[in-house]
Amino acid sequence: MNTDESCKTVRVETRSDLAPGRIAVVTIDNPPVNAGSLQVRRDLLEVFARLRDDDGLAGVVLTGANGNFVAGSDIREFDAPPQAPHLPEVIAAIESLPVPVVAAIDGAALGGGYELALGCDARLATPRSIIGLPEVTLGLIPGAGGTQRLPRLVGIARAISLITSGRRVKAQEACLLGMIDAVAEGDVVDSALEHLKTMTGRKRVVRELAVASNDPEEIEAAEREALARAKGAAAVPEAIAAVKASAVLPAEKALYRERETSLRLRVGPQAKALRHLFFSERQAARPPEGAEPLRVSKVGVVGAGRMGQGIALAFMLRGFDVRLSESDPAVLESALAALRGEAEKAASRGRVHSADELMARLSPGGLEEMSDRDLVIEAITEDMAAKKALLARLDGIVRAEAVLASNTSYLDLDEMAAATSRPERVGGLHFFNPAHIMRLVEIVRTENIAPATLATLISICKRLGKVGVVARVGEGFIGNRIFSAYRRQCEFLLEEGCLPQDVDRAMVDFGMAMGPFAVFDLAGLDIAWATRKRLAPKRDPRMRYVEIPDILCNIGRFGRKTGKGWYDYSASSRGAPDPDVQAVIEAESERKGIERRAIGDDEIRNRLLAAIVNEAALVLAEGIAERAGDIDLVLVHGYGFPALAGGPLHWAARMPRDRILASVDAMAAESGFGAERAFNLLEVLDQAAG
Ligand code: COA
Repeated sequence: MNTDESCKTVRVETRSDLAPGRIAVVTIDNPPVNAGSLQVRRDLLEVFARLRDDDGLAGVVLTGANGNFVAGSDIREFDAPPQAPHLPEVIAAIESLPVPVVAAIDGAALGGGYELALGCDARLATPRSIIGLPEVTLGLIPGAGGTQRLPRLVGIARAISLITSGRRVKAQEACLLGMIDAVAEGDVVDSALEHLKTMTGRKRVVRELAVASNDPEEIEAAEREALARAKGAAAVPEAIAAVKASAVLPAEKALYRERETSLRLRVGPQAKALRHLFFSERQAARPPEGAEPLRVSKVGVVGAGRMGQGIALAFMLRGFDVRLSESDPAVLESALAALRGEAEKAASRGRVHSADELMARLSPGGLEEMSDRDLVIEAITEDMAAKKALLARLDGIVRAEAVLASNTSYLDLDEMAAATSRPERVGGLHFFNPAHIMRLVEIVRTENIAPATLATLISICKRLGKVGVVARVGEGFIGNRIFSAYRRQCEFLLEEGCLPQDVDRAMVDFGMAMGPFAVFDLAGLDIAWATRKRLAPKRDPRMRYVEIPDILCNIGRFGRKTGKGWYDYSASSRGAPDPDVQAVIEAESERKGIERRAIGDDEIRNRLLAAIVNEAALVLAEGIAERAGDIDLVLVHGYGFPALAGGPLHWAARMPRDRILASVDAMAAESGFGAERAFNLLEVLDQAAG
């Protein structure tokens, strides 16, 4: 291969030894993921202008370095006005080249990256590649022809589904759908060179093709499904309209409209919120400076209850070798049966070839058999003495450099670490139930943790596909601490005049995945009850305390698991408001001499959001969380806060400042003794405003 002139981010090599003639291999090299930055667009345009003048050229292969094709347009540029040359100009240059261009994809061809590939005359990808148009997950629609070219390959209905879900499709499926032409088993550039031969110099410009299929019933079904899933995402109806335009408008006009819509959404509040979460997630995943994660392939899980099962499954699904230890044979047996059921489900959804393949990654074993594990996570009952005894025993079993982690949701991890001879190798991995589905994991940074241990826990979360957020030791860490403040405020509202369904409706309208009382019922009322009883000796008697949930627990109403909690589940699994609960609430208001009043949805929302935001500021002040973005990630990925609002601090920082402060002050005034505006609230809001 000859290396021609190169630009900063694009290399060109020519192959003269091949039929059908001289081929240029154009490689995009913009580490780490070849994002389509301004520099990349400039360089590509320059290269394709040069190739246009190359008379002897028979074809072009377009590919990427760094294990990726192109992971999308450079999202870091989205906060500034777009700068020319724009991606549509680059794509137009490829389409108008007189010779065919084959995209040779390895790794990610996402967003603008896949749009670039759609500008080529054919697309080949390695089996590990992921392909798609995930712009909607960033609050946008594709802006460089994705909504116009994809329907020409896969049809309108399928393009609606793919674009509105933002689904990343693996190469094999992408090929079946028609998104790419073939899966390349060997070197993808070699396959692309071969493919060029079969094209015999002919162009196949996607935008000149007819829309692949246009069946009105399928389109209506895809549209209905997309809108039902949209949950207020402004980009979804816009994407549907843009895709449908591909069948009725001239390409030029439809492309212009698509771009205009994409740029308008890009500066909107939802896109800004989702970008904030995207970068917060990546920032949270950065290891401490200079620290290298330890090698982890063999994992142990102790405790086969619901959490232990979910944790084991999360690791199995990502290819780890998992040993599960449980002292109660009956619990182990039912856990293995449950895991087998999950494995069958995973196989039926195509996540693994077979249930057996997944189950082969799991081996039950005693504690002594944890000796070859790189990481052991305990998920036994929330009892400090039992956890300390277990960790001390494991300390004597596992290798000196192995990491021990606890899944505790509130206990003092420093105390647990001190029970071992390796406090620098002990930390927390607080998974959320169900652990194989929920994306959040709180990584608890103990006082004496070694940077390499922390880096290991961070890297494990990334390998599991989780959002790992580092928290320091403190009651409830980040999430449950803030959630407790939210819960207390919900209970105050009951005493003052609300019913559970009023509060739930107001918060679901705000965009929460579920109303708080429905969540309490799902989690089990007994859990918070146990915490209240544990903390009772420390509670200042002057603090406002609502007895209603204790009364419900005393009569066995623990939520869904007992058929009754805040709601009654006996007639419907969705739960119905219960007059008995209303009677308890009203009696309690009367007993305390509180005159019940009508409280509107706005006031409910203001009170509850103010409680969350104020507690979040305190969590930052105490150093339990390091960054505002970390808190936003925790609330969005673990507690159903709407991602479209960017998390509570991103949301609050964008509200009029005087309104937020007034809400927090009103919330504090209603909350009684000890409640006040966090001293650092203004500073936190300023920081979160960026
Ligand atoms: N623009 C700018 N930066 C990007 C980017 C993009 N489109 N995609 C990834 N990056 C950056 C990340 O911020 C991160 O930077 P950091 O190291 O400074 O934190 C770095 O590239 C690596 O990304 P990361 O996600 O940690 O790597 P990964 O190997 O786990 O995943 C991808 C790679 C491509 C799957 C993933 O980065 C991704 O999904 N990117 C976004 C794709 C997308 O939505 N494109 C459409 C844009 S409209």
